[in-house]
Amino acid sequence: MPSLKTRAALITGAGRGIGAAIARAFHREGAHVLITDIDLESAQKLAAELGARAEALRLDVGEEEDWRIAEPHVRALHGGLDILVNNAGITGFLETEGPHDPEHFHLASWRAVHRVNLDGLALGCRTAIALMKHRRAGAIINLSSRSGVVGIPGAAAYASSQAAVRNHTRTVALYCAQQGYPIRCNALLPAAILTPMWDAMLGDGPQREAVLTEIAAGVPMGRFGTPEEVAQAALFLASDASSYMTGTGLDLDGGILAGAEAAPGRRE
Ligand SMILES: NC(=O)c1ccc[n+]([C@@H]2O[C@H](COP(=O)([O-])OP(=O)(O)OC[C@H]3O[C@@H](n4cnc5c(N)ncnc54)[C@H](O)[C@@H]3O)[C@@H](O)[C@H]2O)c1
Repeated sequence: MPSLKTRAALITGAGRGIGAAIARAFHREGAHVLITDIDLESAQKLAAELGARAEALRLDVGEEEDWRIAEPHVRALHGGLDILVNNAGITGFLETEGPHDPEHFHLASWRAVHRVNLDGLALGCRTAIALMKHRRAGAIINLSSRSGVVGIPGAAAYASSQAAVRNHTRTVALYCAQQGYPIRCNALLPAAILTPMWDAMLGDGPQREAVLTEIAAGVPMGRFGTPEEVAQAALFLASDASSYMTGTGLDLDGGILAGAEAAPGRRE
């Protein structure tokens, strides 16, 4: 894998989970990382742990003003941007009022989920285009989900927003190619990656282990994925190793989208 030496990368929602793993991997490969999150404390903690070539910034992706502040900040630090990972995302289970099915959802909850997952990501792409179009090369990586490919009865807004993210990735990719900008835009579609996002679904009671085992059994590979496994794919999409890829989506789901229902039973 080509290194990311001298590249400037901004990662949203990077205080924990997948975003933090991506920041660590990029930093290890030599990039300057701007660790952003709505939770400044977690971003600062990670930046301090990484040391040189790492800075923290509070950025609520759904807030246009925060992106307006981030843009000149990045320009002053690095003269532009080489890599953006639009990673921040919420299910809405903890942050908004339920239920979240298509029959009973609250409009305010629906909008709150789209505000972060879709509006926030579109603002990130817009800002990145301005910061990348005069660089040698730019890479935008959008976190979508397998929930954007199949219907999710209990998480209607999350599924809708992730489907929109997948398609906005294609739009941004084509737009940049059309304009002659040296910017590639690709998506990652993870599923069942064990991060704090799952806490709302797993709980912390005695049933947690049983639920974990049950979900893992539904994954063809028989286990949850790790944030580091997603980070490896992000590294590939950020680097020159993927220089002819734009508008694509990579599934990171242990085989779920390959057709779990049609798969022969796993041997115990
Ligand atoms: N974990 C999975 O199984 C999985 C599966 C598919 C897709 N994803 C996607 O991957 C991304 C990261 O997921 P994760 O599991 O690491 O989640 P997580 O909940 O562990 O971490 C999300 C991070 O985003 C931050 N955040 C929340 N709202 C924000 C906002 N408005 N602005 C900026 N930051 C904000 C949080 O503070 C947190 O640090 C999300 O977009 C998610 O939809 C995750």
